[in-house]
Amino acid sequence: MKFTYCTLSIVSALGTSLLADTIVLDLTSSVSSQQVLSGEPTVTWRYNASLTQGPSSTLSVIPNSFLGPIISVNTGDHVQIHQQNNLMGETTTHFHGLDIPEISDGHPKDAFGPGETYDYEFIVRNRAGTYWYHPHPDMMTGQQVYMGLKSFFIVSDPAEQALDLPRGEFDLPLCLHDADFTADNQLVYSGANMMGHFGNTQLVNGQPNYNYSAATKIYRLRLLNGSQSRILKLGFDDGTPIIVLGVDGGLLDAPEEYPYLLMGPGERYELWADFTDKNVGDVVTLKTLAYDEFAGGIGQGNEIDLMTFSIDRAEEETLILPTSLVPMGEVYDVADIQSEKYWPITFEGGMFLLNGEMWDMSDMTGTVENERATADTLELITMTNHEGNIQFAHPMHFHGRQFQIHSRSMVDPDSEDSYNTIKHGLVDSGWHDTFMIMPNETVQFLVRWSRHTGLFMWHCHNLPHEDMGMMRNFSLSEAPCPADLTHDGMVDISDFLEIIANWGSPFGDVTGDDMTDVADILATIADWGICNSGFRELPIPSKPTSAKPNSITPKKPNGRK
Ligand code: C2O
Ligand code: CU
Repeated sequence: MKFTYCTLSIVSALGTSLLADTIVLDLTSSVSSQQVLSGEPTVTWRYNASLTQGPSSTLSVIPNSFLGPIISVNTGDHVQIHQQNNLMGETTTHFHGLDIPEISDGHPKDAFGPGETYDYEFIVRNRAGTYWYHPHPDMMTGQQVYMGLKSFFIVSDPAEQALDLPRGEFDLPLCLHDADFTADNQLVYSGANMMGHFGNTQLVNGQPNYNYSAATKIYRLRLLNGSQSRILKLGFDDGTPIIVLGVDGGLLDAPEEYPYLLMGPGERYELWADFTDKNVGDVVTLKTLAYDEFAGGIGQGNEIDLMTFSIDRAEEETLILPTSLVPMGEVYDVADIQSEKYWPITFEGGMFLLNGEMWDMSDMTGTVENERATADTLELITMTNHEGNIQFAHPMHFHGRQFQIHSRSMVDPDSEDSYNTIKHGLVDSGWHDTFMIMPNETVQFLVRWSRHTGLFMWHCHNLPHEDMGMMRNFSLSEAPCPADLTHDGMVDISDFLEIIANWGSPFGDVTGDDMTDVADILATIADWGICNSGFRELPIPSKPTSAKPNSITPKKPNGRK
């Protein structure tokens, strides 16, 4: 660390008082049971939580559901979660989409066993949005999520609160997932495999035949595709277009309209669902529509009813669709990238590989630094999905940071017809932490890596693929110029102003110590001028070039298999 003078700790301590709410939760993961179908109750695994400190609105239980409680916080909140593992095996908890320190990211290396506890602690740096939490232990993520360990983690902020959007009961989180049951109502899971898991029973928030009694009002639907493998092509049976308000990392600049919505496992979308022109007695069905089989997996692309909205009462509505929502903030320019990487998806030896390799246990702990990047730098990542003779669609997820999709291209003319059955539902605007890459497609995205250094993961969010080893570590080393808040290549008065403008918010935290305080001003002073040379000396490719193998990845002798 550059900032070693002893005043820092004192100043940091003072700064604590500037923080927003401190939220302290006890979270348990336990074997439980729930009446899901008629007859025998179903054994599930579930999160329960209790609030030790913080606003009572922090926790809300989803009625009649085996999913965990919804955790709702504000940007800037300081969150402490003490988790107790009452399961039979190891677990961790990952806060999907949040930019948090390595130690609280739920990496499999931090798994803890039955009867043990783990403390997660972080500042909420993300903008308002629909995030979620779920386990992440090595090879067991799919089963633990499937058995019920998952729920929403909803973040709000002043910009989101200022909008006239549906609130309260009209703000509706819906987790869409599927399951298989035995004759005596117990969950069956097929585990890690390349074909994925497709349940024969569609669930919404853990309940089958889900019907929501709705008013003639406008709803904000916060959708999470919590399936293991099923890629949804969402549409309403009456052909109403899909109006998207938000994506993984929060609200868009402005609402966007789509004929349908393609949604891979792990992705979230917020919709504006307008039932004001319905009559009492009408029933609207939300479906996944048919699409071509090319995405891989038996049953992928089948048309299925997901849930119904039964309009059972007439109520006045005053909301109108806002013409603008929340500006996304910094829009990355490919001309500003500091380096770029090429990370292909391939298929070899019955496995889907990332960057030519599978999950690396060569050190027995799963902590080998596979891919590497520098904290707080802007990179262009090119992912391809067209080599070899087997391609599936994969929902790719990167931990820690929301990114911007830069481009998509279909490289195989023979796949065009199939691609046309889904492509109008791909939403690439806004901030994403998970995106679909289809067979024979190349997707490029721009990411400014987190300022949190350490070991994080990237993986396929088709959970049977992830557990099969379609997961890698990436390691973030310290940024060359952490005080350059404005990313203009130098530490100067603009960074000072930025800290002051963001005083008390996580965005003014130069030191990355999860506090915005005088230490950040001191760090800026300490760094003043230091980065004026050097920061721009990272390799800057002239323009996005044609992809070539990533030389940054060190090859490990153990290799694949
Ligand atoms: Cu939602 Cu690494 O996971
Ligand atoms: Cu996959």
